[in-house]
Amino acid sequence: MSTPVIELSGVSRRYEDGPAALDEVSLTVHPGESVAILGPSGSGKSTMLNLIAGLDRPSTGTVTVDGVRVDTLGEAGSARFRRAKIGMVFQFFNLLDDLTVADNVVLPAEMAGMARGAARRRAAGLLDALGIERHAKAYPGRLSGGERQRVAVARALMNRPALLLADEPTGALDSASGADVKALFNELHADGQTIVTVTHDLTLARSCATRTVKIADGRITADHRTAVAG
Ligand SMILES: Nc1ncnc2c1ncn2[C@@H]1O[C@H](COP(=O)(O)OP(=O)(O)O)[C@@H](O)[C@H]1O
Ligand SMILES: [Mg+2]
Repeated sequence: MSTPVIELSGVSRRYEDGPAALDEVSLTVHPGESVAILGPSGSGKSTMLNLIAGLDRPSTGTVTVDGVRVDTLGEAGSARFRRAKIGMVFQFFNLLDDLTVADNVVLPAEMAGMARGAARRRAAGLLDALGIERHAKAYPGRLSGGERQRVAVARALMNRPALLLADEPTGALDSASGADVKALFNELHADGQTIVTVTHDLTLARSCATRTVKIADGRITADHRTAVAG
């Protein structure tokens, strides 16, 4: 079997005082899987994504992503790892409002040292593929929520990540824009992209994920394989 993209082994995360935000979680995700993480607010979903992305460290347990022990990386190593391996999409887009759409998308490649011309060409190709090339020179503030999320997805894909992580990607969108983002995630999955999406949106889980993991009070309570509808 191929190397897992994600391997969480006995992962707990405790903050001072409170109960464990994550409690002995083990989870293996293989290349090409599209996993939806479902659970009520406060159940530990974002904590789990942050640990996978190396933005946070577990209290106990190990986090391995694409063969790299993320939990033992220092700050610089973890930033480098994220640039090379992870694309992230957030509920509120997290675009830089004083950069154009094209400059937002190009930024991760520039930070990774890709040659400028090659980076521009790849960004233009992604914007074209995502249907937002006409906005390349616009500033994000001029775009609709759905368009901004497409820009965020283009940026996330810029460095050809082994793993696309999304935290409530449709949470701030109207239902039509949300449907566009779901269709986009379906296409990415069909192209072989490994995706982990945290969501409250059951239709997103049903329509885009090949696997649904439920989490409550920091523990995995269900883990089902599902058929992708679209
Ligand atoms: N920085 C923090 N300090 C203290 N407690 C936190 C912190 N971040 C999250 N928590 C707690 O950990 C639990 C899980 O939070 P989170 O992972 O954000 O949940 P979800 O994303 O499922 O809504 C919650 O009880 C939350 O209050
Ligand atoms: Mg959250």
